[in-house]
Amino acid sequence: MFVEETIAKYEKYINPSQARLFRFMGLASVEDNAEGWIITDSEGKQFIDCLGGYGMFAVGHRNPAVVKAVEEALHTMPMCGKVLFNRQMADLAEKLAEITPGELQYSFFVNSGTEAVEGCLKVARLATKRTKFVAAENAFHGKTMGALTATGRDLYRDPFKPLLEGFTHVPYGDIEAIRRAVDEDTAAVILEPVQGEGGIIVPPDGYLRQVKEICEAKGALLIADEVQTGIGRTGEWFGVNHDGVTPDLMACAKALGGGVMPIGAIIGTPRAWQGLIEAPFLHTSTFGGNQLACAAGIAAIKYIQEEDLLRRSSETGAYFKAGLEKIRQEYPEVIAEVRGRGMMLGIELTKEGAGGMLMSLMIDKKIIVAYTLNNPKVIRIEPPLIMPLEVVDHVLEEFREAVKMTAAAIEDL
Ligand SMILES: Cc1ncc(COP(=O)(O)O)c(C=O)c1O
Repeated sequence: MFVEETIAKYEKYINPSQARLFRFMGLASVEDNAEGWIITDSEGKQFIDCLGGYGMFAVGHRNPAVVKAVEEALHTMPMCGKVLFNRQMADLAEKLAEITPGELQYSFFVNSGTEAVEGCLKVARLATKRTKFVAAENAFHGKTMGALTATGRDLYRDPFKPLLEGFTHVPYGDIEAIRRAVDEDTAAVILEPVQGEGGIIVPPDGYLRQVKEICEAKGALLIADEVQTGIGRTGEWFGVNHDGVTPDLMACAKALGGGVMPIGAIIGTPRAWQGLIEAPFLHTSTFGGNQLACAAGIAAIKYIQEEDLLRRSSETGAYFKAGLEKIRQEYPEVIAEVRGRGMMLGIELTKEGAGGMLMSLMIDKKIIVAYTLNNPKVIRIEPPLIMPLEVVDHVLEEFREAVKMTAAAIEDL
């Protein structure tokens, strides 16, 4: 009753096509509560969450330490008055300076990933007084106009053209293409350290370091979009850590809110920040930096430190990946490749139709997975970093079953 009512309201007041798609995927359930890696629906059915809110639930659902910190802010100063100093915002900015590499020091807080990217583009233009950007094909940076211009998928871009001027897209991971595209008019190169929605694409070792060198030689900035890779997802604080590189600007969001609050951050080096230091009101946000969100961010970072979650992300991710690789070897007609870093894993299927089928089969088995937005041939696995190995074993067992069933139907997909 409750479920039908909610779906009917989606159909009438939100979007009928979205409601139809959810039903078709076997998702005719209403989420009711969640804890750790489990989402429980309104009828008491429990699902293991291997999607993690597209990477948002690094410290799990309703993490008690994060909830407690947010509750404290709720009962004192939930939203920022914007005139006096804000202690939580200062504390979170300090924490981010501590955990980000090199000279990254200053933060500006926003409310989502796309806003963080948008801010990076503006700050880069301000810092360099240049207007051109280089981004990667198949990149995903968000869907507001600037971030959408950087996003490398025509399906999302075409209906909104003309977009911003001056953007060039080059193949991801191809250093020579970057070398050809960056010139003296380039404000910045924007890249994801691992492409998420593009299909969990890990670039060659040293790629980001070489991109940074090219940028430096041409006076351009490097923007790392860490919205999905950041805050422990890949087994390091940030994706750029794997390459030992310090970008000039970093966009961060998703897991920064500890799965409890929406928050994003633009983080920059003193050089990149110079324009904003001279004119701090060139970029502002009413909600950005509110105490609830910053308290969540501080608690999430502390929790990752105290629970050694970077190591766990790396180890559990390697274990998960090895298990998936075994399944690939058993069913090469279904799975073409398993790849990823830490707890950001992608399973590339041999056929696009297999993605939808596998996703539905897994949901029948009460395990939530989804394909990547730019590449429906890739199933992504991004569970909370706290997921225990026994749960991973169970997911692998069920996944093997689902792949076996898909193998039986592969000719028709
Ligand atoms: C790398 C990257 N950048 C930006 C975004 C946009 O974030 P949001 O959906 O919070 O606007 C996403 C979302 O998936 C992302 O993966």
